Order: sequence, then structure tokens, then C-alpha cells
Amino acid sequence: MAAKRYHVTTFGCQMNEHDSERMKGMLDSLGYAEASERSEADLILFNTCSIRESADSRFIAHLGEAKRLKSEDPARVVGVGGCWAQSVKDEVFRRFPFVDVAFGPGQIHRLAEFLTSDSLSAQGYFEFEDFAGHLPMKRAREFQGWIQISQGCNCACSYCIVPSTRGREQSRDPDEVLAEVERLAADGVLEVTLLGQNVNSYGRDLALERRISFSELLARVDAVEGIERLRYTSPHPKDMKEDVVRAHAELRSLCQHIHLPLQSGSSAVLKRMRRTYDRRRYMDRVALIREHVPDCALTTDIIVGFPGETEEDFAETLEVAEEVGYDGAFTFVFSPRRGTEAAEMEGMLPHAVKRERMQRLVEVVQRRATERGQRFVGRTMEVLVEGPSRNDPARLRGRTRHNKTVNFDGTAAPGELVDVEITGATSTTLSGAERLLSRAL
Ligand code: SAH
Ligand code: SF4
Ligand code: F3S
Repeated sequence: MAAKRYHVTTFGCQMNEHDSERMKGMLDSLGYAEASERSEADLILFNTCSIRESADSRFIAHLGEAKRLKSEDPARVVGVGGCWAQSVKDEVFRRFPFVDVAFGPGQIHRLAEFLTSDSLSAQGYFEFEDFAGHLPMKRAREFQGWIQISQGCNCACSYCIVPSTRGREQSRDPDEVLAEVERLAADGVLEVTLLGQNVNSYGRDLALERRISFSELLARVDAVEGIERLRYTSPHPKDMKEDVVRAHAELRSLCQHIHLPLQSGSSAVLKRMRRTYDRRRYMDRVALIREHVPDCALTTDIIVGFPGETEEDFAETLEVAEEVGYDGAFTFVFSPRRGTEAAEMEGMLPHAVKRERMQRLVEVVQRRATERGQRFVGRTMEVLVEGPSRNDPARLRGRTRHNKTVNFDGTAAPGELVDVEITGATSTTLSGAERLLSRAL
């Protein structure tokens, strides 16, 4: 009998991408094979996100196709995991009766249990139990790896659904993290990204004798031979302390890039967002970074149109974006999420106001990012090659240590570190040409 085939569609953040790698690894070890099209799969899986309404609607559209495929062949199994599933829990089965299994982000390992059980009656698993770290993994790229260092989030940002979908923060044991880094390095991984909702609060919940700080964890990972590039996401500005900033200057592998989510430039809005820092403290962090790592790339997340955001509040966000000069920013229109405090707040803004503010913000962000990008022109930068360029398959694509995508002429293979002479910069990408033989000279 031919192997059963699965298809996984992933929505949301890197944490979800990583969870999907675990799902795929586990399915491979159960003897399943990956199907390239959903229509060819016996097992159709979705790893869902619920961060904004747009994430929900995108997923629901895909689920409609799974329903159709299942009606064509009722033997097909449909599974829904991740944050959206967690946020609606058993309601999944009531609203979408063709779904066979649903599980939250902390129960990936239960999928195997479900698939190997005799009766496949619809089941849901929603209590966080364990890190998926012990599960096999199928990496998207053999030279890059993600490592989850914590689960959940103890912050109470009033707009955010994540604390309710991923639960309280739990740090992984440092030895376990290190063992995974060593395994990846032995496997040929050059670049690792440490993942958590608030990575720099890492360790605080560990037993005293096991406890290390985030900067110590960075130092230990840096010491693992073979790891050329170390990244992490996301830190919280409130926990961005000097030791972590200095690590960017001192550790060989730690990249020159910090993602420092701003959310708003207005202290009044930040307060209602429950971010626990104000504009001044945020700018102090930026100054600290610029002091120790002057060339560091800075990126951010910004929410536009939070309830009650006045024109003056928004003008402050524009000022901060102007002042910092981010190398890139993810900008979001506020989206009320079920069960969050902000969804009940007064002062919801009309769609047209949010859209207009978004346009003005994007204009500033892009202009500043283009200006900032010019500092790379004329320099030779180390690029980790990822594959062919998206727009022009005759060229290559890779990333600098500053996390800038570079499209360039060259002959290198994916996974190679090469020197690229930068000749141009837009708001999002750099372009250039590989310096051939540069390493041999
Ligand atoms: N834990 C990370 C990432 C959270 S989700 C962090 O705190 O940085 C990624 C981004 O989505 C957030 O930084 C925020 O900018 C945005 N976001 C979260 N909830 C949102 C909502 N309800 N509406 C609009 N944007 C939201
Ligand atoms: Fe959400 Fe805030 Fe936690 Fe980030 S830090 S996951 S925005 S609650
Ligand atoms: Fe990530 Fe979306 Fe969950 S952003 S943590 S998958 S709600």
C-alpha cells in the first residue's frame, strides 16, 4: 500500500512555522509522505494564527477548500492546530463539522496519538503539556534552524490574543536548548534563530539552580562550534537591558540586527496598550543600541488606529519612526480580538481614518528605510545564500547579518557564505555582485 500523504498549510509567525516543522517531522516518522498539493493529501492540516482578523479570514477561506475535498473523499482527515484553534477550542467541531481533529500550540505531539488510535472520531486537545523540542523535525532549509527557547507570554498587551492562545511563559531548560543547538550545528546548520514571544525575559521562571539570563544563553549558543549566525525574535523593549545590547558587539555570531517592537510612539497609547514602557524609555533603548552597536539594523512592529488614538498620538508615532529611522517595519491596522481588553475599549476609529494613517506611516517608514539602506552601498557584506532571486531566477538571493535581503549576481550555492559588493538599496532590499575569489585572497 502506498504511504499516506499529508499537506500542511501554515499561517502566522515563525513560532508557527517552527511548530509545522515539528508536525512534518513527526508525520514522516509515522511513515507519511508529504504531498505537494492539498488535493493529493490523505491528511490535510492547518496550523493557524489569530493575531488579526485578516489571519482568521484567510484561514477560513482555505478551510472551505478542505471541506470540498473531504466531501469528494470522506476518508480524508482534516486537522486544525495552532492559535486560532486554541482560541475557539471545541467550537471548531460545531462550526466546522468536517474537521476531525483540533489542537492547540502546546499539543502537537498529541496529533500522533490521534492518528495512530483505532477510532478517528473528532477530538480536541487544548492544554499545554510539553515543548515539542523532543519531536523530530523537518527543516525547510538545511543550513538554517529555529529553536524555541520559551513558550507563552506573561505580558498583558491589551490588544493581543497570544497570552490566551499560548498561555503563561515557560522557559526551556538551558541544557536542552544547548543540546538542540549542538545537534543542529552537527547537522550543518550555520544560522540559528532563538524563538519566543518575549525572548529576553528568558530564564526568570527556571528553578534557581538552572537559571541563566538571556544574555548568558546567547553567550553559550555563541560558543557552539559551527554556528556562524545567531538571531532571536522577539525581544520586548522593557527587558532590553545593556547586557543583551553589549552581546551584539561582543559575541562573534550574534547578528547586527535587533527587532524592537514599538507599537506606538505615544506614551498615552502605550499605557492603554499595557506595554509598560513610554516613548522616552523606548528611545533610551534605541540610544543604548546605537551607542554600543552603531551600525545595528533596527526593525519594529507598529499598530495604527488603536482605540482612542488621536491625531496627536499618531503624530508622535510618525515622529519616532522619523527619529529612529528603522531599517524596516511591520505595520498593522488595529484589529479587535475576541477576549482582549482593547476589543472592549471606547473610541474605535473609522476604517477610513486607520487607512489614511497607515498610508502616512508607510510613507515615512519606507523613506527612512531607503535612506538607511544607502549606508550599505559601496560596502562588501557577508551574505548567506538562500537560493535564486524571486524576481530574476538568473540572480541569487541571500541575507546579510543585518537581515537585509540581497539580490545579486553570482555563482554560489544555497547555504554558502559569500562576500557581496553592494551597489544599490531600496527600502526592503539590497542589490550587488558576488566578489569572486575574495575568500582566497
Ligand atoms: N510577541 C511578539 C509578537 C507579537 S505578534 C512581540 O511582542 O513582539 C506580532 C505583532 O502583531 C505585534 O508586535 C503587534 O504589532 C501586532 N499585533 C498583535 N495584536 C494585534 C492586533 N490586535 N491588531 C493589530 N496588530 C496586532
Ligand atoms: Fe502579545 Fe505583548 Fe506578549 Fe507580544 S509581548 S505576544 S504583543 S502580549
Ligand atoms: Fe503566532 Fe499568530 Fe499565534 S502570530 S503566536 S501564530 S496568533
